[in-house]
Amino acid sequence: MNYKYFTLYANGELLNEIEELCLSKGFLNYFSEKRDTDLWQVKVYIESSEEFPEFLKAYPFEYGGEELEKDWWKKWKESLKPFMLTPHTKVIPLEDPAPVKKAEIIGVVPGEAFGTGQHETTRLAASLLEKHLKLGDRVLDVGAGTGILCALALKRGAAKAVALDIDPLAIKKCHETASINGVIIDARVSDLLGAVEHEEYFDIIVSNMIVELLERFVKETVFHLKDGGLLILSGILSQKYDSFIRNLENDFEILETEEMNEWKAVVLRKR
Ligand SMILES: C[S@@+](CC[C@H](N)C(=O)[O-])C[C@H]1O[C@@H](n2cnc3c(N)ncnc32)[C@H](O)[C@@H]1O
Repeated sequence: MNYKYFTLYANGELLNEIEELCLSKGFLNYFSEKRDTDLWQVKVYIESSEEFPEFLKAYPFEYGGEELEKDWWKKWKESLKPFMLTPHTKVIPLEDPAPVKKAEIIGVVPGEAFGTGQHETTRLAASLLEKHLKLGDRVLDVGAGTGILCALALKRGAAKAVALDIDPLAIKKCHETASINGVIIDARVSDLLGAVEHEEYFDIIVSNMIVELLERFVKETVFHLKDGGLLILSGILSQKYDSFIRNLENDFEILETEEMNEWKAVVLRKR
């Protein structure tokens, strides 16, 4: 299949803004390459027959040309080298599914769903999850993408991990990630908490989503957390944190926060 691509040069702040917008729209066909200390080339790919996405029209993207799908996928995949997701867990991006048995390594085939682990928001969520997880915990990930956080939890001793995502492709991807890593993820298509049973309880609920989505369901997580259970939230732009957290302080105690570039994550304990 042929793809058209459009390019834009952006500083880190603009790159984050564009990435956040793309993530919120579930649009993953973009690729950024660092060109200088604070200069990135952003390339957006769309099928030749498609229109340039409406939500990106506010930015000065320029038409770049045509590329075969396999060429840009290949470049994109090659850009994904093994890396440390957390201080103790490495991610290996794979060309094709292959078993990855070690507990401290997670294998993921990059592709249709968000969550190869390279984004700051995933790294923050993963580090905090790894730090607070206890053997035998039951974990829920709302907006699971590839299921990378569930795979991490299960490899680190969780008894159960439920992955929710509104996108059926992400659910398929969660099953693939589970099979690569030799774990079982209970993955369900769900709009936010929609597919959680009435009396289903977790020790940890984790979610990496933009604030506008988190705000729609975080208060309800209280009904699905065990007493003293933890809520780990990532995907929060630092400038939006204060007003976001104010609404949660009656139900939750703030245990810790962590930041990476413009992103902030928080660990809350049910009061
Ligand atoms: C930023 S990604 C996080 C993926 C993964 N958990 C990670 O940390 O890398 C957010 C995910 O939320 C999903 N999502 C968006 N809106 C949703 C909704 N209303 N209900 C459930 N999932 C949703 C998207 O499909 C996407 O996979």
